[in-house]
Amino acid sequence: LPPRPDLDLAALVRTIPDFPKPGISFRDITTLIGDAAGFAESVRRLCDRAAIHRPDLIVAVEARGFLFGAAMATAMGLGLVPVRKAGKLPGMTIGVDYELEYGVDRLELHEGAVLPGHRVVLIDDLLATGGTILATAQLMRSAGAEVAAALFVIDLPDLGGSARLAAAGLACETLIG
Ligand code: PRP
Ligand code: ADE
Repeated sequence: LPPRPDLDLAALVRTIPDFPKPGISFRDITTLIGDAAGFAESVRRLCDRAAIHRPDLIVAVEARGFLFGAAMATAMGLGLVPVRKAGKLPGMTIGVDYELEYGVDRLELHEGAVLPGHRVVLIDDLLATGGTILATAQLMRSAGAEVAAALFVIDLPDLGGSARLAAAGLACETLIG
């Protein structure tokens, strides 16, 4: 599909009140990725930003991060490393516990999936409290990889994630918000 620099990606994201819990305003990217131009343009903009960092690998966070990270990795000619919720990866893993806007969870990475000296870009659909991406960055550091940047489609700045990332020295960029 041709580039659409004019396309308003925010207009393609749907907001669903009180999901998954009362008081949470859920930003739903299924309407964005269900729109061919919207999905292609989001991936193109993410790739443009990722390319500046010259990564060796794309690292994407389960589950919604996989949607964008996988498309980016093929477009950029890079491998994709999945960071998954606990108990999903079959090989030896390293893991880290973390908190998110509506609960607690654990993320895992296959041992050897990223190597010391690898330069990686982290991809997720949305930045809320920043807990998920900071946990992912911690996994990367444990493996000896360098996190060049974290990229998101959506930022919810009221939840403080971008400020937490800045305080932690993690460069972050978002397409919406
Ligand atoms: C959502 C979202 C991010 C994370 C953001 O994932 O996709 O990964 O929360 O929140 P944070 O900045 O407060 O950590 P969720 O854990 O709901 O999982 P899913 O992608 O599997 O739906
Ligand atoms: N992950 C954490 N908070 C979220 C929100 N408000 N909408 C969608 N995904 C989220």
